[in-house]
Amino acid sequence: MPQRSLIDQLPEIVRDGRREAQRILEGLGSSRRVGLQTRELVLPNPNSSGLDLRALSTTDAMGGISATGGATGPGDTTGTPPETGRPDLNRLIFGDNLLAITALLAGDEEHESLRGKVDLIYIDPPFDSKADYRSKITLPAAGGSHENVDVSKRPTVAEQSAYSDTWASGTASYLRMITPRLILMRELLKDTGSIYVHLGIQVNHPVKLVLDEIFGKRNFVEEIIWAYGSPSGGRAAGSKLVKMHEYIEHYAYSYRERDEHKIYLPYSEKYIANWFKWTDEDGRPYRRRSRGNGLWERQYLDESRGVPASTVWTDIKQVYADPRAYKSDQARHSEITGYATQKPERLLHRIIKHSCPAGGLVADFFVGSGTTAAVAEKLGRRWIAVDQGKPAVMITRKRLIDIADAPTPDGRARPFLYQSVGDYQIEQARNVLGRRFRIGDLTRVCSACTASTGPCRCRPR
Ligand SMILES: C[S@@+](CC[C@H](N)C(=O)[O-])C[C@H]1O[C@@H](n2cnc3c(N)ncnc32)[C@H](O)[C@@H]1O
Repeated sequence: MPQRSLIDQLPEIVRDGRREAQRILEGLGSSRRVGLQTRELVLPNPNSSGLDLRALSTTDAMGGISATGGATGPGDTTGTPPETGRPDLNRLIFGDNLLAITALLAGDEEHESLRGKVDLIYIDPPFDSKADYRSKITLPAAGGSHENVDVSKRPTVAEQSAYSDTWASGTASYLRMITPRLILMRELLKDTGSIYVHLGIQVNHPVKLVLDEIFGKRNFVEEIIWAYGSPSGGRAAGSKLVKMHEYIEHYAYSYRERDEHKIYLPYSEKYIANWFKWTDEDGRPYRRRSRGNGLWERQYLDESRGVPASTVWTDIKQVYADPRAYKSDQARHSEITGYATQKPERLLHRIIKHSCPAGGLVADFFVGSGTTAAVAEKLGRRWIAVDQGKPAVMITRKRLIDIADAPTPDGRARPFLYQSVGDYQIEQARNVLGRRFRIGDLTRVCSACTASTGPCRCRPR
């Protein structure tokens, strides 16, 4: 039988995606809904003043309390209780994002439903490029240098699909994967929320059609071309042109053409030299701007916002896993995690600053090496980060712990929860100990494994 074209299949893919999402939404209230288990409360700053750990350890389903830089447990911390009850913790979630989103929409005893609560979603799903990232995780070698080291552990089935962006029947199955997820993401967004979907040339065009269906053409804001450059300086292999861009599709609700939506980029030195060539009696550089009728006014450099950004972003370069690409650029060098598809922090910085208010909530359901969470943390936004690959969540966890320039008194990241989806062991425990059982209870019962780092590994007897 001849294969049906993608155009033929598209209406059916969208219809099936809607049905699947609808089924999930209808099941949110049921007692058998998907839940998230908290495996760890991660404390990047072991002192964590202002956080009442005792309150958290008794009210949360907590698998373990992990403080970096010192042993800390529920009993040995004296923090001032937060002013408004339970703090709103950021969450790193290990598991398939369909289940994670379902659980976030459903909420649970400790966390309210996030339906309509998220200010900004950025996602960078794999691209259906038939590429396989399994051999491309670069681990730091001894002495802090980076060398390409293959991940030797055989990945689980879930991890295989996390590392590899190959879908069995090509773009159609990719669209089947992404459609219900996008519909559920829409449910999480505030009515002033934005979503940015980062796509490669392989899938951008069909996914754009799906996005128009789900978010509505009228809510399409812009297509950003991210021209990320190339370490080869653009020397082409073979006869093809050098690929140097990806797409970021932006949709938003209640988004009007307002000046606050403009992004301004700093002037280049050349621009300043050419235009701001006058200085006043105090030495402040300015340029002359015509007011018509032969009149001029001064526009001071220190009062100018910069050049309005266009939809083509050429000033943010790709992150290369090999630090030799940077030579002397230490700031960029420190950003490298070795994760093959890592995106630059500056890219997320621009998006988050532009589309999430201070203190707002940012979510990334394909977080990879944790760029979105790290930048949100540094910008003082709240975040939720999900990935189904164990290496990805481990890299993200470490990256957050290592942050030293967050807007907190000591520059460290705020405490966050490490959660996972669908833990059958915990389900078993619930069957034995009753539905009200929580991991935190088990930690207290089993003194043998109340180590301050990591979840309890004991099985219920
Ligand atoms: C292109 S990478 C994201 C890179 C990220 N933007 C960064 O800066 O590191 C895509 C990620 O999506 C994850 N992923 C793929 N399918 C997923 C799913 N169904 N649920 C959760 N994560 C998934 C993969 O494990 C991978 O880490």
